[in-house]
Amino acid sequence: MCGIVGILGKQPVASLLVDALKRLEYRGYDSAGVATLDAGQLVRCRAPGKLRNLQDKLERAPIAGLAGIGHTRWATHGAATEANAHPHSAPGVAVVHNGIIENYLELRGELQAGGAKLSSDTDTEVVAHMVSRELARGASPRDAVAVTLPRLKGAFALAFIFEGQEDLLIGARRGSPLAVGYGEGEMFLGSDAIALSPFTDRISYLEEGDWVVLTRNSCEIMDASNAPVERPVISSQAVSLTIDKGNYRHFMAKEIHEQPEVIGHTLSRYLDLSKMQTTFTNGTSIDFAPLDRLIISACGTAYYAGLVAKYWFERYARLPVDIDVASEFRYREMPIRKGDMALFISQSGETADTLAGLRYCKSQGIKVAAVVNVPESTIAREADLVFPTIAGREIGVASTKAFTCQLAVLASLAVHAGVQRGHVSADEAAALVRSLAEVPGTVNRALSLEAEVEALAQPLSRARDVLYLGRGTSFPLAMEGALKLKEISYIHAEGYPAGELKHGPIALIDEDVPVIVIAPFDQVFEKTVSNMEEVAARGGKVVLITDEKGAAACGAPTWRTVVVPDVPEFIAPIVFALPVQLLAYHTAVFMGTDVDQPRNLAKSVTVE
Ligand code: AGP
Repeated sequence: MCGIVGILGKQPVASLLVDALKRLEYRGYDSAGVATLDAGQLVRCRAPGKLRNLQDKLERAPIAGLAGIGHTRWATHGAATEANAHPHSAPGVAVVHNGIIENYLELRGELQAGGAKLSSDTDTEVVAHMVSRELARGASPRDAVAVTLPRLKGAFALAFIFEGQEDLLIGARRGSPLAVGYGEGEMFLGSDAIALSPFTDRISYLEEGDWVVLTRNSCEIMDASNAPVERPVISSQAVSLTIDKGNYRHFMAKEIHEQPEVIGHTLSRYLDLSKMQTTFTNGTSIDFAPLDRLIISACGTAYYAGLVAKYWFERYARLPVDIDVASEFRYREMPIRKGDMALFISQSGETADTLAGLRYCKSQGIKVAAVVNVPESTIAREADLVFPTIAGREIGVASTKAFTCQLAVLASLAVHAGVQRGHVSADEAAALVRSLAEVPGTVNRALSLEAEVEALAQPLSRARDVLYLGRGTSFPLAMEGALKLKEISYIHAEGYPAGELKHGPIALIDEDVPVIVIAPFDQVFEKTVSNMEEVAARGGKVVLITDEKGAAACGAPTWRTVVVPDVPEFIAPIVFALPVQLLAYHTAVFMGTDVDQPRNLAKSVTVE
């Protein structure tokens, strides 16, 4: 998943391209580059590593030109070197790409057999040479692209500029998002509206297979069969965000501390506290009553939110849930029945695997709902029903506020389903809604644990392996805690159902393997305490995250105990996420890793 941008401007574009790339850096940051047309000549500037390196290079050696393209990379083919950085070029053309060209080796062989000299390890360079070959055969830039696109297999969002063509920008979309931005005598292309927000809020999203030919005063969109099509021009909500960390050292810290506020914003869209009922202010109505099954699919942290929701839907609405990670679901060809509905969860709304699962379910003719944090995202636009989280833009690659807002939406939907299916009475619904209404305040109180949790960072940072255990809705939280720790501190961590420990993982236990046990005082608490005893009996060090009742009731020895305010069992997963997030954050900070942009990761995984 990379970020691409193109500009046909009225002023020098190199610095504008870099500004747009800053807004796209969440999509990948292994290397970056820009290409412009200076008096019709293609000029490139590329640098490995963070965008800062490209900026420094441009400050030392500026490039001119009023038309250009830019790219920030998450490496799929070839190491993060300058030679592999985009834009890639061939005689007469330069291109930037987000996606994967699956048949690039075959095309590379064909080009080299024809005498082409390629200089990178990337799939993208093949595209540049394919177009260049057509130009050499006398095709116009537009025809050269039209001939090339059908030869490409895989996913791509592409932007091209051409030698000597200072008023031409061509883009194409298949499987990766691409937006057209309309300026006054200027035109733009970008991976998303956020990148273009400093330039324009008038946006068209290309659809699957679309490609577009832009000049400063014209926009021609063609579909996959090259027929002209119209795509709606919308006023983007992705206002030009002042993206800053405020008083925080990292975006992740800021976003952890934003949770009381954004969970409150989110819940206000789903709860009517005057009636203590669930409601849907955006008019989205959903009927769970006739359903035989709910299918849930997502990736990473969003998947763990879905796992928590499985417990809630089954317990409160007696609605069977099948859940799978989207990368498996999309190829599993699950038999779909007419009594099914599918629910996809995604912060970015662009995750390729999740989108593919959504499209599979739509192809099977069932209703598809989505819980997303980006209302203009592809998943939001293709779902039949959208339930937005109101977390605000999440910059930190490690998801925090989006996760707890996803849980807030899912909890509201589960209560709604319970009432509709006759398993939750009006009084029971009122009690559940009331406990949800307590979440922002309780989460705020949980943040006061930060110093206590931070004190665990130093000893935890010495661990080679860490186990996270939980039962019931704390089991998905154990998985999420392990993911948080490993993705930002690079310490190996695994989450397990506490009851599974004795079926193998207990072999790992010794004094060097901290065990983080997530256990609110609920109906399985005593079972979890037994698991803690099993760990302690083998010299293991237990960090217990529990509430006041649990701390009072726990007789097992612990290395440390973190006490969360007492909360109704229903909302425990949301509140207990805070110490879990803080533990990962402070451990990573202590270790000096790049908390907001951890190695090898990107915020939006738009490739398989
Ligand atoms: C979460 O901390 C990770 N960055 C990652 O697992 C993420 O949750 C996953 O890629 C899904 O992203 P999405 O919610 O945007 O679909």
